[in-house]
Amino acid sequence: MIKKVSSHKISIETFGCQMNEYDSQVARGFLEAAGFEVIGEGNGSDVYLMNTCSVREHAEDKVYSRLGKLSKIKKTKPEIIVGLMGCMVEEHKEKLFRRFPDLDFMVGTRNIKELPSLIEEVLRTRKQVAQIKRDGISIEYTDLIKRDNAFHAWLPIMTGCDKVCTYCIVPVTRGREVSMPAREVFREASRLVSEGVKHITLLGQNVNSYHGEKSVSFPQLLEMLCQIERLEQISFTTSHPHDATEELFQVIARNPKISRHFHLPLQSGSDRILKRMKRLHTYQDYKAKIDRLRELVPDISITTDMITGFSGETEEDHKATKRALEEIRFGGAYLFKYSLRPGTPAAKLPDDIPMDVKKRRHHELLEIQKRISNKDFPFGINAS
Ligand code: SAH
Ligand code: SF4
Ligand code: F3S
Repeated sequence: MIKKVSSHKISIETFGCQMNEYDSQVARGFLEAAGFEVIGEGNGSDVYLMNTCSVREHAEDKVYSRLGKLSKIKKTKPEIIVGLMGCMVEEHKEKLFRRFPDLDFMVGTRNIKELPSLIEEVLRTRKQVAQIKRDGISIEYTDLIKRDNAFHAWLPIMTGCDKVCTYCIVPVTRGREVSMPAREVFREASRLVSEGVKHITLLGQNVNSYHGEKSVSFPQLLEMLCQIERLEQISFTTSHPHDATEELFQVIARNPKISRHFHLPLQSGSDRILKRMKRLHTYQDYKAKIDRLRELVPDISITTDMITGFSGETEEDHKATKRALEEIRFGGAYLFKYSLRPGTPAAKLPDDIPMDVKKRRHHELLEIQKRISNKDFPFGINAS
């Protein structure tokens, strides 16, 4: 039971990945149960809550600029309340209070449940308050959750990351890997299906390195979930090439309920850069896995992520990435310009590719991918 604490209007803006979207749906569920009226993004709220992302500087800048705007609004409407949740809270913690005196509250990824009481405390005391716990798991299964879609649901099964990709802030913001017990995942998936959900997307920062109790592996979990009768489709994201195993490919091949879309970030086509990124695979390792997957599941569509302009990337390295796009012919690729994140191992390496070179290389990759997407997939791909 959640205590009714307020009838205030609150808006929630989500800046991050699917995990953030799920967390926003959970936050909405808890807030509505406590009597808040959750309204769409925009002005006119009593409380402005932002669910933040730290993965690139640009994602953080968007939140800083929004905080600046809300500060201005506060000059004429001092009663409004501004709060943050998500990865920036985990990364910067109370430091943000000093930088933004108009910020009223912060809640960590393991404390979403405490949002109503925290806001109530701000209303009562008008002091800056934070609840950022280090232990426990940030995944919350609750029937209070407010989904936007009746037939599709996100279902986080693990969080955190034990890999050490040098550019990535996720191990800092989401901590070590923790998996939900398989029977709890099964119970929650069955509950969702009983509510009418037909398509579930399993979420995790490293979803395929899931390891449940009694060492249930990710492929085993998928097979368990395929047994749920009225569940029609299961997708998952994001996978790491290191844990993309023959067993997983076999399970996909045997189970038509598992989505024929596989997202597998490569990051670079150059072994020298992959090593500098500590990605744990060479280009040939990755390519061999894709070839095997395509052999077992001929109708699979594969998408990827690539980072351009990482520390030390030469024209030769860039050419290797271009060759990789041409050779593998992905159904789609998310292409990012490298953004140095303080606190990551790569922050000690020089960010030595000038922005104009990053932009040019990024543009070249985009053009190649656009050509491939138009030629091989003229009607687009079904990314579900
Ligand atoms: N496994 C995580 C990955 C999130 S980051 C998850 O799904 O939640 C998504 C993509 O952002 C990565 O695959 C990578 O291509 C890109 N990325 C991560 N850190 C980056 C950085 N510092 N600069 C540019 N792109 C980055
Ligand atoms: Fe953003 Fe990454 Fe955290 Fe997801 S895991 S919310 S992309 S920083
Ligand atoms: Fe990030 Fe690499 Fe982990 S991309 S989430 S450190 S696998």
